[in-house]
Amino acid sequence: MLLTVENISKKFNNDAVIKDYNVTIGPEEIVVLVGRSGTGKTTFLRMINNLEKADQGTIRINGDPLVENGKYVPRDKQRAYQNRIGMVFQNYELFPNLSVLDNLIEAPLAQKVDTKVNLKAKAIELLDSMEIADKADVMPSTLSGGQAQRVAIARAMMLSPDILCFDEPTSALDAESAESIGMLIKEIAGRGTGILIVTHDETFANKYATRIIESKEFKVN
Ligand SMILES: Nc1ncnc2c1ncn2[C@@H]1O[C@H](COP(=O)(O)OP(=O)(O)OP(=O)(O)O)[C@@H](O)[C@H]1O
Ligand SMILES: [Mg+2]
Repeated sequence: MLLTVENISKKFNNDAVIKDYNVTIGPEEIVVLVGRSGTGKTTFLRMINNLEKADQGTIRINGDPLVENGKYVPRDKQRAYQNRIGMVFQNYELFPNLSVLDNLIEAPLAQKVDTKVNLKAKAIELLDSMEIADKADVMPSTLSGGQAQRVAIARAMMLSPDILCFDEPTSALDAESAESIGMLIKEIAGRGTGILIVTHDETFANKYATRIIESKEFKVN
């Protein structure tokens, strides 16, 4: 399994949002997480991306744990885990003061995962595959919503993650852009990446999900 989540629990101020929840995601799966507002969908994505700590439980990618029975692995191993999972945020969260290309290479460069020349080449290749290579040198504020979304996806793909997560990827897009993001996600999944998408967009879910899971399952135990 690419992603394994076992008996994960999370409380905010003594209120359980997620209780003893289990799920797995395998290669090429497009798992869509649906459910009402406030039921912990974003919290769940943030936990598996190590942006929020779980109170209990185990999270692994390809067998390597981020947290095991509530105990987090050392910081360097957490970093290694994080390099294997990517997140595309609802508002994209591009760095406004960096060009598109620099948005892509900033984090891997800071971590010294490769040379600047190689990272730039990889970034251009990704932008090209998403048909936005002509935007490499522009600032994020000049992009359309659909283009910004593609840049955010390209940035999340820089380290070839095993799992890619999306929080509401189509909520700000028109039907045509949503459709083309769906096709792009399908293509990424086809290359072996596991996909986890939170969405309220039923048309999108029904069209692209290989499996639908529901946030009301977060608290059944
Ligand atoms: N940092 C936090 N501190 C306190 N409570 C929080 C925090 N983050 C989330 N919550 C609470 O946890 C619950 C789940 O929030 P979350 O954002 O995960 O919901 P969601 O399912 O993504 O909702 P939506 O569909 O509206 O985006 C909410 O009650 C929220 O108020
Ligand atoms: Mg949310």
